[in-house]
This record gives sequence, structure tokens and C-alpha cells, in this order.
Amino acid sequence: MLLTRTQIRRLVYAHGREILEHDHMAIERVCYQHGVVTTFAHSIRVACLSVWLADRLHLWNRVDLRSLIRAALLHDYFLYDWHDWDNGTHRLHGFTHGETAMRNAIRDFKLNQIERDSIEHHMFPLTPYPPKYIEGYLVTAADKISATKETLSFDRFDKPASEQPTDRS
Ligand SMILES: [Fe+2]
Ligand SMILES: [Fe+2]
Repeated sequence: MLLTRTQIRRLVYAHGREILEHDHMAIERVCYQHGVVTTFAHSIRVACLSVWLADRLHLWNRVDLRSLIRAALLHDYFLYDWHDWDNGTHRLHGFTHGETAMRNAIRDFKLNQIERDSIEHHMFPLTPYPPKYIEGYLVTAADKISATKETLSFDRFDKPASEQPTDRS
């Protein structure tokens, strides 16, 4: 049986509650990731898409659902607006933010090896070390797909005129 969008959202909110309700998530709500999409909204999309990929690829006998969702929700837990970072050059952010996210995440939550590794290595192949677990590959793939969709969306050109965050998922 294949999961519907609503079922996937429910799973993400059920297994991700501790993370979604953490005070530091308020920071992700005001940091823009790609275009008009906040890091918070991006993380939820990546979690939903990771679950969708695992489901459609029939990987449930090999994937831990809870670790997958938690790693996806925390994969960009770097807690700064990367547009303001490194004097606006953005050169290093792509290479370093996986490790920053992992360090912030282990400070705020008790994470297992799958979750830690998947967060730290989600920027592969930009960074040299691949994820160790299949959950990490799913997060990496879902992140690349989401980032491409968000960056190419025409909505981003509306940002200066309308600041209200729109949820287009
Ligand atoms: Fe990232
Ligand atoms: Fe991301």
C-alpha cells in the first residue's frame, strides 16, 4: 500500500514533534533557504520527500522511519541565515553547514548514529565523505530535489513585493 501526501505529513509531524516544537526552530522560521522558502518549510519538505522516496522505492524493510524523518528535519539545523554569513560570499557555507547542523543538533537532541551521520554528510558529493546509511542517501536525494525546485520557482522573484511566506507545497 502506498502512502498518501496526508499520511506522509502525519508521519513527519508524529515522529518529528520533539524537533518541530523546539525553541530553536523559531530561528529556522525566519531564515530564508531558497527564494521565499524558509529553512523550516524546506526541512519539512525534505522530510516528506524522503519518506515518499523510501515508500515508492519499497525500502521499508531497510529504512528506520523515525531516524529518516528526524535526520531530514535537522539536516539544515545550522541556525543562521546563510545569506548573511561569511561576509556574503557564501563560499564556505555549502562545505561546512552539514557539520554545523550536526553539532547544533547533538547539543539540542539525543541522536542516534543514523541521524548524526545523515545530517553531517547530507551535502555529499559537494563534500568528500558520503553518508554511511541508506537514510542519509534518501535525505541527500530529497534535499537536492527540493533545493532545485525551490530555486527554480518563479515565486522567488516576488519576494521584495510580498514578504508573506507562502506555503506552496
Ligand atoms: Fe544543506
Ligand atoms: Fe537542505
